[in-house]
Amino acid sequence: MLGFFRDGTTLVCDGVRLDAIAREHGTPLYVYSAESIRRAYRALDEAFNGYPHRVHYALKANSSLAVVRVLADIGSAVDANSIGEIELALRAGFQPSDIVFTGVGKTPDEIDRAVALQLKAINAESAGELERIDRAAQARGTRVRVALRVNPDINSGTHPHISTGLHVNKFGVPLEQARAIYRRMVSQPGLQPVGIHVHLGSQIVTLDPLQKAASMVVRLAAELREVGVQIEYVDLGGGLGISYDGSRVPDASQYASAVLPILRPSGLAVVLEPGRLLVGAACALVTRIVDIKDSPGGRQFAVIDGSMTELIRPALYGAFHRIEAVTPRDARELPYDIVGPVCESSDAFGQDRRFAALEVGDLMAILDAGAYGSAMGSNYNRPPFAPEILVDRGRARLVRRRQTLDDMLALEQ
Ligand code: LLP
Repeated sequence: MLGFFRDGTTLVCDGVRLDAIAREHGTPLYVYSAESIRRAYRALDEAFNGYPHRVHYALKANSSLAVVRVLADIGSAVDANSIGEIELALRAGFQPSDIVFTGVGKTPDEIDRAVALQLKAINAESAGELERIDRAAQARGTRVRVALRVNPDINSGTHPHISTGLHVNKFGVPLEQARAIYRRMVSQPGLQPVGIHVHLGSQIVTLDPLQKAASMVVRLAAELREVGVQIEYVDLGGGLGISYDGSRVPDASQYASAVLPILRPSGLAVVLEPGRLLVGAACALVTRIVDIKDSPGGRQFAVIDGSMTELIRPALYGAFHRIEAVTPRDARELPYDIVGPVCESSDAFGQDRRFAALEVGDLMAILDAGAYGSAMGSNYNRPPFAPEILVDRGRARLVRRRQTLDDMLALEQ
């Protein structure tokens, strides 16, 4: 068995006990299953088998080098959202032709570097940005491969903070403007339009909006072909959700079955930009209880040593994550609020969760912490960045050590 499961009573990652890892490296810490990442990548890649496709892992979900290298080694490409992510991808061994560069508000320096690198494509966000890319390309005497990000005004049904495909969201350009912008590219010598990009949002758990978006970009590509603009591929973005609470959500093969019939008649290659789908379930944030006290609701607060600084999703989006005692004791179940030590009431991981009686010192694992966990980490209240452990083939390897106070203060003068 792979991933996180119980070996007897205790929770393990790919067969390695979490309590042993925590004893060696301290808490809080992130534990990743390399094989879970590979399995998620292969499930998606195989779902599109037989159709021209490329998986560009969205680095923003988790750009820890060891995690990125697992994906590099099995043939993934990447979606980068800043020059930082592009440079990191290059260090992880990706070629410029493996990288698409998305992002609202690219700076002149970012554009110039991206132009110089000759990436697979820059996903442009506006007509103005395309003009700046065109100028940068001409200044370097080159032509740059671009895709325009279209905002289809489709409701993906996800949390408003992570919805990106509605006109009220800041992303991309409305479809009505996209046609004219593509036609204009014919007279912009620095630009080579190669793709159409759309990304509706994140943690999407219904296929209908994703199908609508696919239809829309396929239709746009056909219209553009009629006016002489030849597109190579459509980029459907990321966004497919995972099940945080055990409820059924569409998987990679259902997603492929939903969009392939729409893509097939066009013959256009497809780019996918999954983040969460590949790494979300592959990590547990392992924490230790540091205090227990009564709460007025008749429950108890169990205060753990991990907080919103290691996993901000519950605080930021009210997101649900399963929480499990690493080694539950044989005792009566009681209700607890699992909270972190940061001075914010939103620094809480779960309310009214039931556990066999907990004690100070117990290890608690917060599951599905691989996407937007460590990547959104901070030093708020000055905890050091937590270490990261990658479990691969039965071996737990420290891939990022715990930050020290000196590391944290190194930039301050
Ligand atoms: N492509 C683009 C252009 C994106 O903006 C994103 C995510 C992705 C791909 C990957 O989306 P995914 O497959 O991971 O859903 N911090 C939030 C999620 C923010 C997503 C931002 N963009 C969370 O923790 O739920």
